[in-house]
Amino acid sequence: MSSIYRRFYTEVCQTLFRQPNIVDAAEPLIQRVFPWFRADFYAARVLQIKPQAGCLRLKLQVSRFFPLFTPGQHLQLRVSIQGVPMERTFSICSSVQQLHAQREIELAVKIQPQGRFTGALSGELTPGSYVHLGAPTGDFALSQDHAACLIAAGSGVTPLFSMLNSLSRLTVPLLFVYSYRGAAQLLFAEHWAELQAKFPLLQLVLWDSAVNGRLTPERLFAKLQPELRGKFLLCGPTEFTQDFRAACLAQGVSPNQISTESFGLLQRTAATSQPVRLTLGRQQHDLGGQGSILQRAEQSGLVLRYGCRRGVCMQCLCDKSSGVVRNLLTGELSDAGAGRIQLCISEAVSPVELSSEGLVV
Ligand code: FES
Repeated sequence: MSSIYRRFYTEVCQTLFRQPNIVDAAEPLIQRVFPWFRADFYAARVLQIKPQAGCLRLKLQVSRFFPLFTPGQHLQLRVSIQGVPMERTFSICSSVQQLHAQREIELAVKIQPQGRFTGALSGELTPGSYVHLGAPTGDFALSQDHAACLIAAGSGVTPLFSMLNSLSRLTVPLLFVYSYRGAAQLLFAEHWAELQAKFPLLQLVLWDSAVNGRLTPERLFAKLQPELRGKFLLCGPTEFTQDFRAACLAQGVSPNQISTESFGLLQRTAATSQPVRLTLGRQQHDLGGQGSILQRAEQSGLVLRYGCRRGVCMQCLCDKSSGVVRNLLTGELSDAGAGRIQLCISEAVSPVELSSEGLVV
């Protein structure tokens, strides 16, 4: 579809239906015949809900239409919370074999007790209820032909666990380091011994930071220097992955040998809040408040579309016509011209002009 036609199509759908496309507009009608139908989502039945290590582990039955995933990928989980459909992005933690053999997917959802979505999840879901899943996406993946170091902290272990759990055999050395705080916070506790026994070339380091202190690059490098080789996959809080990435680079590891996936934003914020003008359709909004542009839009009373709020799902993509923004995951600055930015991880560091047609919910 050419961009002019797409803009025209979106404009017509927004004007007539207040939806970005015809399938979304027709969804209520289709649901009268197929109640489980959601445009762009796959229905999944909840088989099991198990609290563990501050997470809810969800085992879900999917249909044969659910696409194959690559271990390390994430997807959107859509659940109706008190009648309002809400979505968040989570990494798949189960193996591809489990999908093949049983048509099952597992997620480990970190519970934020005050969170609108995760805080309400255990009250909304019971075995037998239905949720909806987006298609798996992302390029955070393990190459099975090369030695690798997988380093995770907290719930960042979920995509790495899927990679390890999906291996049918291991022919190269693999170092897997997982930092957690206290035995009660050890995710997948029932599987680690079994995985170590299954793979002789696996070196598994379960780092209890309540006993050993916080896992830092210095501590890990001092303990395991000869084992650190091959590709590095890092997953955890942003400052954790940034520290390890910087340490790997300082040790001479090439940047293309390091993949990271992070959650949480850097705490650095601009000293003064820069003007941001957001044009939605024909309306212009000058955003007040502090923080990411998404947070500022919300503080200004706008309800915009978002998914993960951590720079993964791309639901909050928006056109920037001018201005410089800082990426709150990496600290990088954009150039001052036109481009596309993710509102949830962008902070204005100069006056910024933005526009979007499909962001309003
Ligand atoms: S909400 Fe997912 S990338 Fe911004």
